[in-house]
Amino acid sequence: MKSIVLIGFMGTGKTTVGKALAERLQRPFVDLDAVLVQQQQMEIDKIFAQFGEETFRQLEHEALCHAVKQENTILSPGGGAVLRKENRAVMRQNCYVIALTASAEVILERVNQDVTIRPVLENRAPEQTKLARIKELLDVRAACYTDADLILDTSNQTVESLIEQILFWLNQQVGERI
Ligand code: S3P
Repeated sequence: MKSIVLIGFMGTGKTTVGKALAERLQRPFVDLDAVLVQQQQMEIDKIFAQFGEETFRQLEHEALCHAVKQENTILSPGGGAVLRKENRAVMRQNCYVIALTASAEVILERVNQDVTIRPVLENRAPEQTKLARIKELLDVRAACYTDADLILDTSNQTVESLIEQILFWLNQQVGERI
């Protein structure tokens, strides 16, 4: 089967849903940020601090191009991977693309519960709240997250329900037997 890539803003559930889906389908789960951390031997915020966002985006692009070529995996790139048009293109060419969405308020709640430092949220003017920063980025990125085969709002749904919807969609719409 073609791999499934989960795109979506930070805090939309890519990792949680991706791991659960991988377990259910008995397929490997690949977290692209984890690949970069392993490769660079430093956390994502340190890569941003040391090399800058542009270098991070280039490393992300190279890792993504490599990862999409592997079949049968559940792939979860970072929320900004969709920013490059060529990244969206390689994902569409090689994988089923599922977009996860959530309201800005739910995203804020989830990222606040997570210990991961997200430089694109921290890098804001002192007077700007984190919620305002999330809304600003969501506005800028909105179109990139609709470039998908299936779009699911994770705001008020359990992981189990999301997995059922994805499996139903794979069976019915794509004709894959799972
Ligand atoms: C980013 C999202 C992060 C990570 C990096 C940049 C973004 O991944 O790749 O901090 O620009 O949206 P998650 O979406 O897994 O938090």
